Amino acid sequence: MIGAHTGLNEKVLAYRPSDPPVEEIRPPKDRAFFADLEKRSLLSAVTKVKHLTPYIGTELQGVQLSQLDEKQKNELALLVAERGVVFFRDQDLTLEGQHEFTKHFGIVDLIHLSFYGRLDIDIPLFSKTGTLTKSIHVIAFAEFHSDHSFEINPPSYTLLRMVKTPEYGGDTIWTSQTALFDKLSPTFQKTFEGLHGVHSSEHTYINTINRGGTTFRLPVRREHPLVRTHPVTKQKALFYNPAFVIHIAELKGFEALHTLNFLREHLHSADDLTVRWQWEAGSIALWDNRVAVHRAVPGGYNTEEREGKRTAVYGEKPFYDPSSKTLSEWQAERNQNEVPVIKTELDGF
Ligand SMILES: [Fe+2]
Repeated sequence: MIGAHTGLNEKVLAYRPSDPPVEEIRPPKDRAFFADLEKRSLLSAVTKVKHLTPYIGTELQGVQLSQLDEKQKNELALLVAERGVVFFRDQDLTLEGQHEFTKHFGIVDLIHLSFYGRLDIDIPLFSKTGTLTKSIHVIAFAEFHSDHSFEINPPSYTLLRMVKTPEYGGDTIWTSQTALFDKLSPTFQKTFEGLHGVHSSEHTYINTINRGGTTFRLPVRREHPLVRTHPVTKQKALFYNPAFVIHIAELKGFEALHTLNFLREHLHSADDLTVRWQWEAGSIALWDNRVAVHRAVPGGYNTEEREGKRTAVYGEKPFYDPSSKTLSEWQAERNQNEVPVIKTELDGF
């Protein structure tokens, strides 16, 4: 259920978070703006480019992230923006190396990612000089979400490195919000383009306190465009996730409820727009949290056997540009420029 929590009780009401609210920040120019559109430098360094599905997810083989130069990292940023998530296996990145690598993509988000309690993903916290100070644990969310979407500046490039993992179980699924928007009818697209999702951290705040965890700030409720423009690709994407979006600002209560139910069904039935990744120790996923939602597949494994390290950078404040393009329009434009494209078909119901 959207926004379900374990109870607004006296313990929650008496809780006093230590940190003040976060102000808006202006992140530096997205590194993907500096990339060669053909990504020649990055692609010449890999042994294989394996697209895992038509719409989302590419695995790059035969390359170590620790060895990439600035140019290749910029091209990787563009590839992540276009493919939603890019995967690697058998990586030699250390924790400090991961922090250094992440810094290339912007301002590492330390405050926001220190928001939660416990469980099977570590958020390493670094001091300003880059020294590891402590780690906290967060719950691997079983419902689709984009990380911290309720913040003013939700993360953009986000990296999860798996340190240990059970033999099976604990996979992660990503779904393309760009393709989800593209699959809607033009009428629904037009309707959603003017709306704003209301993102809330209230239920996670309450749940964290009731589970005995630590949360550093008071909960927030924030409106973001329901259809968002990617600043680099200029593609339109839904900016919806059932874990944090509790209302649609412009709609009446039941209008919003049924619209959110539709969006959740649209998302959960989108097997064709989805990639499922089975982790191994040393695997890395680098995703664009602005255009891909994800979920941990729950159950059937011991969470003690799963340990990952996540780092992320601040994204821009989400915005909608009416002149931006659907995925189909973007692909058609590329086609004119004779770059191979994947055909998109609009589904009927
Ligand atoms: Fe997540």
